Amino acid sequence: MRGGRSRRWKPFRALLRIRTAERDAHELATELREAVRIRDEFLTIAAHELKTPLTSLQLQLDSLANALENAPSAGPKSMLLGKVDTAIRQTTRLAVLVDDLLDVSSITQGRFAIHPEEADLERIVRDVVSRFSSEAARVGCALTVETPGPVAARVDRLRIEQVCENLITNALKYGCAKPVHAQLTATDSKARLIVRDGGIGIAPEDRERIFGRFERAVSANHYGGLGLGLFITHRIVEAHGGTIHVESELLQGSAFVVELPRAPIQAEGPSGKPSA
Ligand SMILES: Nc1ncnc2c1ncn2[C@@H]1O[C@H](COP(=O)(O)OP(=O)(O)OP(=O)(O)O)[C@@H](O)[C@H]1O
Ligand SMILES: [Mg+2]
Repeated sequence: MRGGRSRRWKPFRALLRIRTAERDAHELATELREAVRIRDEFLTIAAHELKTPLTSLQLQLDSLANALENAPSAGPKSMLLGKVDTAIRQTTRLAVLVDDLLDVSSITQGRFAIHPEEADLERIVRDVVSRFSSEAARVGCALTVETPGPVAARVDRLRIEQVCENLITNALKYGCAKPVHAQLTATDSKARLIVRDGGIGIAPEDRERIFGRFERAVSANHYGGLGLGLFITHRIVEAHGGTIHVESELLQGSAFVVELPRAPIQAEGPSGKPSA
């Protein structure tokens, strides 16, 4: 009798267990979403907070460097200039990290937008390369650039500069002090930028995932970084209607290939997709 009753209740108990599990899963998903939202919000606030003192520190260092440059006595001047130079490089690095964190939070929160305007890609690439000449000399890399002449395109100038900066930074960082070459070519409809190095290379299984957020294929003990540069680069290129991929052999170097449409593209909405 008791066994019969218990058998009768069995399906209800099973159903109850399923309902409870469903409710738990739903609550867990809500909690996780909330935790992710809080983390993203924290990143945005922390990055903004870091940015203010950093900008003021950079201004102070710049004016100190100028004052030293114009100081009359030669004695400790070069030693001080060297120290200020290191401090400027470190604050610049810190500023890039903070900007990357801000970019990532705007991408993950769907607020990322580009602002295309008429620009000359040759000018952009050559300017970035020349800005990196002292860093290339510091790490012992010969950095060269090749362009076909002016390449007019409708792009977000600052964002495309950021693409070049990220690719050249990586080429110098992972390039084992071998030559780095930036090459721009163009057809009527497309522009192609290739940044080639002769460094550590990338294993086949890592060539896709390195474009993901926080994804890295090197040991943190050997190379610093957050694994954000290529994630942001990929989003910028995608927002322009372009593509990026890498061709590489382990220990033989890498070539990052960016293709961008030159023709005017529609104004971009916050998600990076053309707005209606
Ligand atoms: N030129 C390159 N040669 C070899 N490996 C590379 C190269 N560029 C990128 N990688 C690999 O891809 C990973 C992701 O690159 P990404 O630029 O996104 O991050 P990161 O350089 O580690 O840090 P950061 O956020 O400072 O840029 C790197 O950690 C590295 O493993
Ligand atoms: Mg990088």
